[in-house]
Amino acid sequence: MTTTKRVGILISGRGSNMAALIAAASEPDFPAGIVCVVSNRADANGLKLAEQHGIPTRVVPHRDFAGREAHEKAIDAALAEFGVEIVCLAGYLRLFTESFVERWKGRMINIHPALLPSFKGLDTHAQALAAGVAIHGCTVHFVTAETDSGPIIAQAAVPVLHGDDEEALAARVLKAEHRLYPMALALLARGKVALRNGKAAFRPMPEADPGAVLVSPAFDPRHAEAEDIEHLARFTP
Ligand code: GRF
Repeated sequence: MTTTKRVGILISGRGSNMAALIAAASEPDFPAGIVCVVSNRADANGLKLAEQHGIPTRVVPHRDFAGREAHEKAIDAALAEFGVEIVCLAGYLRLFTESFVERWKGRMINIHPALLPSFKGLDTHAQALAAGVAIHGCTVHFVTAETDSGPIIAQAAVPVLHGDDEEALAARVLKAEHRLYPMALALLARGKVALRNGKAAFRPMPEADPGAVLVSPAFDPRHAEAEDIEHLARFTP
């Protein structure tokens, strides 16, 4: 019999990753169940989505509290009300105190829209475009005191395509996020990954295709059109 971990999701907005976790957890063999969704914003769109799926929601507005600690105490109370064992941050836009992070150490994970340790913080797709990388992606990691720096559980990569703007790139990464987050949560819920001595420890190491290579841009020189060759010739010193 599969034992099911009780998961609480913290959101601040759209909630598409939350929806991906809810969908995955509704599958019979998924090792986690979403027991509540907590938002610091009453207008978070994700709240409506959660309610449509019959998941209980709580709004804990940070503005109602004198400080970060008082706000976190109220969040902890909401999580305790539902017996939450694992916290998934899904677009939750508040920083935590060290004591909150310590309380949930090894039991709180986040999804970040970049291949960490590149492009921490906000506007990750703009950062990737500005840097001119050819491959971008997303990361699920344990939450530690330093933002976007916790041990990595899993990553997914996507190509950056010619002509991409922030919106196009964000949409491609978001699709990858929706695949990656449920997979990473399942690893944690099944006890296949744990936070040990500041590292993500796997038991056993999950399968990965050792031959898988994402090449970007994909260009086969044997198929170069005459005009491509002319174009290249013009730029060859
Ligand atoms: C996602 O891109 C996630 O990686 C980041 O915030 C965004 C939240 O989007 N942490 P959504 O609310 O899950 O749609």
